[in-house]
Amino acid sequence: MTKDFLHITDLSADEIISIFKLAKLTKARFKRRENYVPLRGHTLAMIFAKPSARTRVSFETGFHRLGGHALYLGPNDIGVGQREAVKDIARVLSGYNDMIIARLFEHRHMLELAEHATVPVVNGLTDYNHPCQVMADMFTIKERRGSLDNLKITYVGDGNNIVHSWLRLAGRLPFDFTIACPEGYTPHKETLALAEEAGLGKIEVSHDPKAAVKGADVVYTDVWASMGQKEEAEERHRKFAGFTVTADLMAATGRDSYFMHCLPAERGVEVTDEVMDASWSIVFPQAENRMHVQNAIMLRLLGKA
Ligand code: CP
Ligand code: NVA
Repeated sequence: MTKDFLHITDLSADEIISIFKLAKLTKARFKRRENYVPLRGHTLAMIFAKPSARTRVSFETGFHRLGGHALYLGPNDIGVGQREAVKDIARVLSGYNDMIIARLFEHRHMLELAEHATVPVVNGLTDYNHPCQVMADMFTIKERRGSLDNLKITYVGDGNNIVHSWLRLAGRLPFDFTIACPEGYTPHKETLALAEEAGLGKIEVSHDPKAAVKGADVVYTDVWASMGQKEEAEERHRKFAGFTVTADLMAATGRDSYFMHCLPAERGVEVTDEVMDASWSIVFPQAENRMHVQNAIMLRLLGKA
C-alpha cells in the first residue's frame, strides 16, 4: 500500500479487491452497530475547497464510527494555495492529525499536499479525478452482480473527473468501458492511453449514446458542468442535447441494466426523474457505499486492518 490514496492506479488489482473485501466486512459491522473502534484517539483533517454533501458526511461519519474524530475545514478556513502555501498546510496539519482528506480544484495541489504531508492523504475529488467515488461504484456493482466478470459499463456525458477515475480503474481490473460524449468533451488523452495500454478490457470513445449503451450492464452519468464549470452550463446544455439518460436510452442497452450516478444529479438535465427513481437505479446504495469503501481505504492506509 502506498502512503496516500490519490489515484486508483496507486493500488494494485489485488489491493483493490482486498479493499472491497474489507469494505464488505466493515459494512456488515456497521449494519450490526458493532462497537468497532480501531481509530480511537485518531484525528482526520478534511479540507474542502469545493462544496460537498456525500464526501463530507461519509468521511466524517465513517471516521467517527471507527472511533476517531474528524474536523471539517471549509473554503473559508484554509484557502489552499491562496491564504497559505500548500506545502505549509501539509506540514502544519501533519503535526496535529493522523490523516488528511482533501477536495481541491487543482490536481497539482493534491500531489503537492501528499508530497509534503507526513501522514496519509486521501483525494476527495479534484478537477482531474475522484478515486473514492469510483472505488465505491465498482464495489456497488460487485455487491449487486456478485461478480465483475463480463462487465460492460457505458458512461454517457462529459469526459470529466469521474471518467478519469473509471479509466484508471480500467487500467487495473478487466471490464469494458465506453464513454459516449459530445465531440470536444472527451477525457484526457493520456488517461485514455493508460487504460488502453493496460490491455485488460475494451476501451471505447463514442459520440452516439444509443449505439454506446448497447449491451451495457451499467449506464452511468454525471452532471454536464462540474464544480468550477457552472458558468459554462448553458453552452453545455446545448452541446449535450441528446445525451440525457432517459428510459428509452436505458431500453437501448437490450438487457436489464443498472443506472448509476455519482450525485448530485441535475434531474431533468443529464437524467430524467423516471430513470433516477426506477427500481434498477442504484444511485442511493451507490452513495451509501462511499462510506464503507472509504472506511476500508482509511483503515488500510493507517495499517489498522
Ligand atoms: N459524489 C460526491 O462526491 O458527492 P458530493 O459532491 O456531495 O460530495
Ligand atoms: N463531476 C462532478 C462530480 C461531483 C461529485 C463535479 O466535479 O462537480
